[in-house]
Amino acid sequence: TQGAQILVASNRGPVSYELGADGTLDARRGGGGLVSGLSAIGQDPDGASAVWVCAALGEGDREAVRRGVGEPGVRMLDIDPEVYADAYNGIANSVLWFVHHMLYQTPLEPVFGPRFRAQWASYEAYNRAFAEALAAEAGPGAAVVVQDYHLALVPGMLRELRDDLRIGHFSHTPWAPVDYFRMLPDDIAGQLLRGMLGADRLGFLTRRWADTFTACCEAVVGGTFGTEIGVHGLGADADFLRERSRRPDVEERLAALREQTGGPDRKVIVRVDRTELSKNIVRGLRAFGLLLDEHPEWRERVVHVAFAYPSRQDLAVYREYTDEVSRVAGEINSRFGTESWTPVVLHVKDDFARSLAAYRLADVALVNPIRDGMNLVAKEVPVVSDEGCALVLSREAGAYEELGDDALVVNPYDVSATAEALHAALLMGDGERAERTKRLAAAATALPPAQWFLDQLDALRG
Ligand code: G6P
Repeated sequence: TQGAQILVASNRGPVSYELGADGTLDARRGGGGLVSGLSAIGQDPDGASAVWVCAALGEGDREAVRRGVGEPGVRMLDIDPEVYADAYNGIANSVLWFVHHMLYQTPLEPVFGPRFRAQWASYEAYNRAFAEALAAEAGPGAAVVVQDYHLALVPGMLRELRDDLRIGHFSHTPWAPVDYFRMLPDDIAGQLLRGMLGADRLGFLTRRWADTFTACCEAVVGGTFGTEIGVHGLGADADFLRERSRRPDVEERLAALREQTGGPDRKVIVRVDRTELSKNIVRGLRAFGLLLDEHPEWRERVVHVAFAYPSRQDLAVYREYTDEVSRVAGEINSRFGTESWTPVVLHVKDDFARSLAAYRLADVALVNPIRDGMNLVAKEVPVVSDEGCALVLSREAGAYEELGDDALVVNPYDVSATAEALHAALLMGDGERAERTKRLAAAATALPPAQWFLDQLDALRG
């Protein structure tokens, strides 16, 4: 065979398998920008062949690889589970994610000792497995787009194996400022940057993250050495969202949510997140509690619908955070709740149709991350909203660059200011809300996922 002409590499692939008790494998397709971006490639008129290389994430995926089950165009890598756990949980999610989102509880953390060094060796091995698979799958001169912090070393490794390829890398996270980035051991900081600079082209979600990356390169390795750096602000997929959010399963959940929140006389503040430290869910709940304290006129008249879907539960700090979210929600409900009113409705079971229903229903959306690469919730809500929705948005989300003008912007650490922004959002007149929502939706859909991917590919192929 000639090999693929377009390759994508990411830790999480477009499909994953669940192993049933009876030994059957159940395939689940993920949603999200990348998946719709790549399906657009499948419809490429030149018919270029595409391959997506991803990791087997759990037992179901590994079993699928062993049985040779899979989808055309998807190549899952069965990496040793211990190596995988060290690379994914130990380095990618506990170190690199923490650095870029500035989540460490300095001065107690981080501690880079022997355990870190062992995990780093696993991260290298996991990156090497990707580089080798890509080198084997790629046709002559193919374009390879590597995704995210899990695979920062792949561009450099792949370059050594195949110098004919056009190699790109895209970061979906923020990039740490120089002084914070330099908490990493010096050799590791250098290795990471040089690994990424092995690419012909690096992509970021906003100018801000591209600039901090460049500053890190200048401080740590002395420059970017001719690697091109581009900004591609991934937008919401308007066609998909508008169609999907009007289907019967969403209508059903919308009716249930209306019932649960107490009908049209009550305002609804919605948030939808992975239960993720950087999403700042606890401060968001506290801001809602403060709103009820400072503006008691909202009692019985507003409900906070919070969807917080468990994420990365192998990590103790995420499990603790998940508990804390429930505890604080419960605290607000026991303090303010009445027989006829539950102030916080918290759901933790992931349900995409219900998220869309909440987007449609929301009077106010709360998006208050302490740091976020983009935040697609902020972009999806205005597209789907039935009657317009006021957006309370953190200035530390990448989406702020595009949506800041029509959102109520907050410093995510400032709980009082967030409570006041919620108050202002609830008071916003129907006309103004509808106007702002229209402009937010236009800004949010400026670069749909398929175009986002094609732009990168075009730029990469030159
Ligand atoms: C962020 C990252 C993605 C990741 C996603 C979900 O958006 O940028 O690479 O896939 O979080 O996290 P998970 O660890 O479940 O893949």
